[in-house]
Amino acid sequence: MYKSFFKLQSSPFGTSPDPRFLYMMPHTREALACLEYGISARKGFTVLTGEVGTGKTTLLRRALASFSSRRVSTAFVFNPRLDVLDFLEFVLTDFGLIPATRTKSGMLLQLNRWLIERFRMEETCVVVVDEAQNLSWELLEEIRLLTNLETSSEKLLQIVLSGQPELEEKLRHPSVRQLRQRVSLWCRTQALTENQTHAYVTERLRIAGASWQLFSVEALELIHRCSRGIPRLINLLCEHSLILAYVEQVQQVTATMVESVAAELELETQPFMVSSAALGNGGSPSPRSVTENNFMAGFSKETPGRQDR
Ligand SMILES: Nc1ncnc2c1ncn2[C@@H]1O[C@H](COP(=O)(O)OP(=O)(O)OP(=O)(O)O)[C@@H](O)[C@H]1O
Ligand SMILES: [Mg+2]
Repeated sequence: MYKSFFKLQSSPFGTSPDPRFLYMMPHTREALACLEYGISARKGFTVLTGEVGTGKTTLLRRALASFSSRRVSTAFVFNPRLDVLDFLEFVLTDFGLIPATRTKSGMLLQLNRWLIERFRMEETCVVVVDEAQNLSWELLEEIRLLTNLETSSEKLLQIVLSGQPELEEKLRHPSVRQLRQRVSLWCRTQALTENQTHAYVTERLRIAGASWQLFSVEALELIHRCSRGIPRLINLLCEHSLILAYVEQVQQVTATMVESVAAELELETQPFMVSSAALGNGGSPSPRSVTENNFMAGFSKETPGRQDR
């Protein structure tokens, strides 16, 4: 709509997880390295968590794209509200196999044989489960059992679970402690600091071909405040603000425009306190975004009262 007015080649603030726009911040770089390492070093279970809209799916897609020319086969489960049979069928199909039967034992056998074949060809196979906070307890347990497919020295199947902070809660539950003990890498996405928000917006505009500063500094400050540094909300505010500027035929978004967009979207414009609990440890200054094994240190004591299914 506004692209030619602002002389842009593409839409800078789409809400799809397009890895082309991935802006690397220290925590993004760390989380990406963690994912890539977890998969290529055949670490078994890797977990990625982060607050809603902080870039988990974008990061997963980027990590998988980085393997596309290497010897890695992937199955990407984007909606895990499946029963066990549907899940296995989906995984086999996404790996490019035609399920020979629709029984659990038949599909597991077929998967095992195929994984051994791939292993002999020195390929790595990975199942990525996005939105993993929605996994049923039954499927979570079944996924744990999949990591039993192994040779005497190596895991045949790598598994990445990605989800919102509820996934962390879920993995704290005593009934999944066996799975939790197998998580060897833990990565996190985070909300952006104010400087990062400015750089993020500028970078997306650069990729889209912007040739002048489309947002005033005050507008960017307000965008950070209203979005709490959450990329999806930043995109939403920027997109609507650009539309408003276009409607008003103004070449730079002002703070007043952002304010009216934020009010329309019912986003708070007042200064806020970021609680790290609210952001799923996504506040800043940030904790490290990658943890190898120390997830266990943090959660080795079960917390009474927080373990309801
Ligand atoms: N580091 C980043 N660089 C560029 N864009 C990003 C980054 N992080 C997030 N985004 C953008 O923010 C939006 C939301 O990202 P994404 O869908 O990956 O979040 P999510 O954490 O998977 O959300 P949900 O919890 O709802 O699944 C997308 O438009 C995505 O392109
Ligand atoms: Mg997502």
